[in-house]
Amino acid sequence: MKRNILLHPDPRLKKACAPVSDLTDDLRRLADDMLTTMYEAPGVGLAAPQIGVLDRLIVLDCVKEEGEEPNPLIMFNPEVIASSDDLNIYEEGCLSIPDQFADVTRPAEVDVRWIDRDGAEQTDTFTGLWATCVQHEIDHLEGKLFIDYLKPLRRQMITRKMVKLKRELARG
Ligand code: NI
Repeated sequence: MKRNILLHPDPRLKKACAPVSDLTDDLRRLADDMLTTMYEAPGVGLAAPQIGVLDRLIVLDCVKEEGEEPNPLIMFNPEVIASSDDLNIYEEGCLSIPDQFADVTRPAEVDVRWIDRDGAEQTDTFTGLWATCVQHEIDHLEGKLFIDYLKPLRRQMITRKMVKLKRELARG
């Protein structure tokens, strides 16, 4: 089932999320809904707070090439356990901040530990777009958005545009 994606500014996007302690069927369903919502948007990642759920859960799939097999990942309680000194700059966007993009600098390579859909602990190394995406989504669980990396003026400009967009959407 597709869920509604919250748009910035929203207080729920600024909150730190709680760790998942018990992997229930409801949480698995939620993760599946998040993948459906992400693919339909379309996007390469989505965090639970973006649909108003303050649990530490993210989904991602950075396979973008036409004809390539999808590679959906569901991560409960994801944690960056190591970051490279090498940095990478990507132009980032966010489904909660539609049509706004900006360069963000992050570690080029990260090791991430998480609990998968079956409750098993996983660790893997991410590079390229995957590294950027997984860090962007984990940030969401701390109430941090990619625009928080920008200079205040740029951030305020984007937020003002979003406030206007939300007003227009509310009018219908
Ligand atoms: Ni985002």
